[in-house]
Amino acid sequence: MIQHCPTPTELDDLELLLSGAYAPLTRFNEPGSVVTLALPDGATEAELVDPEGLPLARVAADGSLEALTHAQYGPFRRLHLTPAQAREQHAGATFVPVVDALAEADLEELRGLGRVVLVALMGTGTSSLSPVALVRATLAAAALLDDASVVAVPLPSHGDAQADHALGAQVVETYAADDPVHALAESAGPLPTPIAAIVDEDQPEPEEQGLVLFFTGLSGSGKSTLARALMDLLLEQGGRTVTSLDGDVVRRHLSAGLTFSKADRETNIRRIGWVAAEIARHGGVAVCSPIAPFAETREQVQEMVEAAGGAFFLVHVATPLEECERRDRKGLYAKARAGEIPEFTGISSPYEEPVDPAVRVDTTGRTIEDALDDVLVALDKAGYLHLRGTDA
Ligand code: ADX
Repeated sequence: MIQHCPTPTELDDLELLLSGAYAPLTRFNEPGSVVTLALPDGATEAELVDPEGLPLARVAADGSLEALTHAQYGPFRRLHLTPAQAREQHAGATFVPVVDALAEADLEELRGLGRVVLVALMGTGTSSLSPVALVRATLAAAALLDDASVVAVPLPSHGDAQADHALGAQVVETYAADDPVHALAESAGPLPTPIAAIVDEDQPEPEEQGLVLFFTGLSGSGKSTLARALMDLLLEQGGRTVTSLDGDVVRRHLSAGLTFSKADRETNIRRIGWVAAEIARHGGVAVCSPIAPFAETREQVQEMVEAAGGAFFLVHVATPLEECERRDRKGLYAKARAGEIPEFTGISSPYEEPVDPAVRVDTTGRTIEDALDDVLVALDKAGYLHLRGTDA
């Protein structure tokens, strides 16, 4: 039987299927249900493991699930009660679904309800806050109430607002059982100070957010030169940590030994993306400049970065092949034309142009400063970095 690590959404669903939160639903892929699981390569049964490889459950060919170990990863795990545990601990309370930071007005509304259980629906993509920040904000709200507890329920978004809303309502009813459920009125008023601080930390202003500047383009297009010049400006300005992940440099260290086959190029770019996402997670700036010829891999990098709370800014260095070949600074195009280098990007291996980069720069006939200015204007407009004029 194959081992398979499901997506974050599927892992959330697995936990809720096994805990009874989705009752009467107990398995994936029931007709018409948004609770789905995709197994690789047409497999019908598998051992489902968490990202660290811990076996969580077995899914049989008929779709039924057998629990193996309880999920143990993730902050606030102790607040993940099953419906049965929640009933045992909180019978007689009013259950209140929470998907966002609670405002002053929400707390006022809750004060009239007596004992409440705040059910933080913190699964992947359900709240605009990160899962951990939603729980933190909900705990802060509970601390401002007289008699409130918090239960964390990893109800994820399945990308279908109506179905997700219905599923969420059903899950909260399951937790409440015979006790009342109270849905808060929509409120947009001010947040209590401790809650506002949690939201601010989770959703930094664009200029404080982790940032991945990803330069893509042909060999010799000027990616590395532009990236280097941008890094220097950042370093001169100070205030941010900056890491360079240049294509040629990465291939000497992180990706040493990889070839230029499609599969190895994808591996190379995903490695760069993985490191860049970690840098963004810590609020740093990563400046990447590999060729990255495949659109799908670039999209995967974007997903990794955004999942880590970073912003992804794609710069297409669109210097045409003729100009790159005319420059041929490393003499590689001549060798590629002579058949000495196989699978050379632009000659014997494809380059998929980005359809909607944040900015596109052709360096033909332009100075570095001039070409870089296009990037700086776009960064400034997007609000991520304000570097224009710092070298004046
Ligand atoms: S990528 O396709 O995996 O993104 P990467 O940016 O790491 O490529 O490496 C590109 C650099 O490797 C080029 O700047 C060039 O110096 C060198 N190189 C060597 N062989 C090739 C090849 N077949 N295709 C492209 N670049 C190559």
